Amino acid sequence: MARSESLDEVRAYYDSIFPFYEKESVARAHLDFWRGLARQWRPARILEIGAGFGRITRALARYAPAIGIDISLPMLVHAARQCPSSSRARYVAADMRRLSFPCCFDLIVAPSDPFSHLLTAAERRQTLCRVAKLLSPSGRFVLEGLYRRARQPEARERRFRHADGVLTISESWQPVGRGQLWKATYRYLDRGRNRPDRAVKFSFTARAWEPSKLRRLFRSCGLKIENLWGDLEQRPFSGQVRRVVVVASRLRRNDL
Ligand SMILES: C[S@@+](CC[C@H](N)C(=O)[O-])C[C@H]1O[C@@H](n2cnc3c(N)ncnc32)[C@H](O)[C@@H]1O
Repeated sequence: MARSESLDEVRAYYDSIFPFYEKESVARAHLDFWRGLARQWRPARILEIGAGFGRITRALARYAPAIGIDISLPMLVHAARQCPSSSRARYVAADMRRLSFPCCFDLIVAPSDPFSHLLTAAERRQTLCRVAKLLSPSGRFVLEGLYRRARQPEARERRFRHADGVLTISESWQPVGRGQLWKATYRYLDRGRNRPDRAVKFSFTARAWEPSKLRRLFRSCGLKIENLWGDLEQRPFSGQVRRVVVVASRLRRNDL
């Protein structure tokens, strides 16, 4: 049985990788995907779960007022500082398992799988039920979920150029037990031009999604899956990928 990862452990992980993760998130080419959803669906209110440095919330706020929630105060402070005063983005410290707002949202997004930190099925169900309650009747929830094809160790390395150097990220994934749990180890090495190199290594436990069980799980939380994509180009999920993108809406009476 999976134990629950404490918020302190999750925060400690993000605190330790803070400067590296900021550079990594700037290098990610995913803003167009999230912006495209807002352009297409024209939501009146947007919520981002696990907003991190707030780049996606900020980008979405060009289309409608957007709230980003996270449990990491340093990241939220950074996100708020990056926001021009004219922005309609707001940041709130909140635990996704206890999501509660006095209003509904037409678009709720969970990019780069914040749910991967919820290690138990019960926590995931609890959070998905909260998401369903916060969706407007025509609203959509989009989750970029962690998917691992086979229960085999995996490793990869990526390299990004940034303003004052090169960041190398080495990740390794080891399956834990028989479920969807993984021990992830990230090593960041930031080589600067006129400064000493910086490096950090950190491990954490993450939980991937099992696509074959998604429909039933979402349904039990009041959500109906409309699409399962395998990437941010919206290609159908094929199993040959590292992520599963889920598009869901609220379950209606005639869906039952
Ligand atoms: C992989 S990061 C994604 C950040 C951002 N969405 C992005 O795509 O750059 C996951 C985020 O989820 C947050 N998180 C983890 N557990 C959470 C919880 N229980 N409630 C709210 N946020 C959480 C972390 O602090 C982290 O910022």
